[in-house]
Amino acid sequence: MSNQNQFLQVINLNYSYPDGTQALKEINLDIKEGEFLAFIGQNGSGKTTLSKCLNGLFKPTSGDVIVDGLNSRTTPIVQMVRRVGYVFQNPDHQLFNSNCWDEIAYGPRNIQLPGDQVRERVEEAAKVVGLPKEYFTEHPFFLSKGLRQRVAIASILALRPKLIIVDEPTTGQDARQSFEIMDFLRDLNEHHGHIIIIITHDMPIVAQYARRVIAMGQGCILADGPTSQVFTRADLLKQTFLEPPQITQLAQCAVDMGFDPGTLTIEGMLAQYDKLG
Ligand SMILES: Nc1ncnc2c1ncn2[C@@H]1O[C@H](COP(=O)(O)OP(=O)(O)OP(=O)(O)O)[C@@H](O)[C@H]1O
Ligand SMILES: [Mg+2]
Repeated sequence: MSNQNQFLQVINLNYSYPDGTQALKEINLDIKEGEFLAFIGQNGSGKTTLSKCLNGLFKPTSGDVIVDGLNSRTTPIVQMVRRVGYVFQNPDHQLFNSNCWDEIAYGPRNIQLPGDQVRERVEEAAKVVGLPKEYFTEHPFFLSKGLRQRVAIASILALRPKLIIVDEPTTGQDARQSFEIMDFLRDLNEHHGHIIIIITHDMPIVAQYARRVIAMGQGCILADGPTSQVFTRADLLKQTFLEPPQITQLAQCAVDMGFDPGTLTIEGMLAQYDKLG
């Protein structure tokens, strides 16, 4: 395979927490420009730990993480976070400034951008996540969970990292907000050159947005492939205690009628229905 447009490479990565918990075991992963991925797997399977290794917050216990040609072991964290942004599972673990403006401006100021560029980045990021200006002076603590999540995403976007990892983007959001957030992540992916990784337990969201799925279990990668292929592996999904979306399950029950077992969306199902007459 050509590694011309390879952005990130994980080689034999192991990670153990200081208490000895072995959270990642022999992870190997290549991520290329343009990808939209989902990390799935049951609670405690290692998704968050892996993400924190990808942005250099955690250094490998053994093995390597290479981002944009830089090894996370030897690269200062400020250089890493300009390339890989990680939006925390719980935005409250990320937000620590006393108003939304300072929160979003923190990263650009930290990399010592001049004031006018800081302002430009904050305004752009707030616009992208749909955070109205009147919230700039508010304390993030007083916003709804949905808005806090947006501020958290905006604070990462302001650094314009090539790769953006969003841990559980749709928890705490209602259906409309979930689709808004996911649509904007898709827009970043399709029109602004960002690689996106979502971590989620929401399989319909995975089916609708992610083109590649990494399924994790007990610190290992159990499967890595196109979304429709991973969702056809019932044996494997059972191990992860996850089920494909209902529409995929329906298509899998109707394989004898000619439906594709890797059908991911209602639109995809309807298109086949029309063809099968
Ligand atoms: N700070 C920590 N110290 C020790 N062990 C930890 C720590 N954080 C996580 N772990 C352990 O590491 C393993 C992987 O946890 P991780 O949080 O990466 O899983 P996850 O897939 O993100 O789970 P979830 O779906 O619940 O968010 C688990 O066994 C977990 O208990
Ligand atoms: Mg997690």
